[in-house]
Amino acid sequence: MTEHLTVVTHPLVQHKLTLMREKNTSTAGFRRLLREISLLLAYEVTRGLEMTTRVIETPLCEMEAPALGGKKLALVSILRAGNGLLDGILELIPAARVGFIGLYRDPETLRPVQYYCKVPSELEDRMVIVVDPMLATGNSSVAAIDLLKEKGAKHIRFLCLLAAPEGVARMKEAHPDVPIVTAALDERLNDHGYIVPGLGDAGDRMFGTK
Ligand code: URA
Repeated sequence: MTEHLTVVTHPLVQHKLTLMREKNTSTAGFRRLLREISLLLAYEVTRGLEMTTRVIETPLCEMEAPALGGKKLALVSILRAGNGLLDGILELIPAARVGFIGLYRDPETLRPVQYYCKVPSELEDRMVIVVDPMLATGNSSVAAIDLLKEKGAKHIRFLCLLAAPEGVARMKEAHPDVPIVTAALDERLNDHGYIVPGLGDAGDRMFGTK
């Protein structure tokens, strides 16, 4: 993957995203759509996974067949909204290793502060996919990736549902080596840091909180 930003324009992704954006979509509907869309986005973000071959026997003959190679990939969810994307991807890649990073925003400095971090070992040998549905200011994504690089991760990708231009620019400045895959690049952030037109608070919408 060489592009810094990939927008997945597949009709199914775009249609499901529109349904998710609508304010009257129920919590159950939002969750179902998120699971479905995460399968489609996972397909795109895992392009370029390391491959190998192994010899198998079909009913007709032996063949050297393609198979995933290298160490199991690591999925890292930025709490809490990342977990919504994680569930769908795990259905597609059930053997993936999983990590969680929790960050909150310090009310005085407005900087992200880590309150939880548990990630798989040997990160340096794995493809690491960081998931968070909303790339807004980019502060938490940049902080999470800083942390993963400190722990040795070298091959990182970032997967989100919606991105704001501000977040993409921040990521490009801080982590130009980390490709971003998203379903849409929206117009802007509003004064409260929400993506516009967006879909509201992704965590509230998937967990039914307010
Ligand atoms: N987080 C959200 O859940 N929604 C936004 O629009 C921005 C950040």
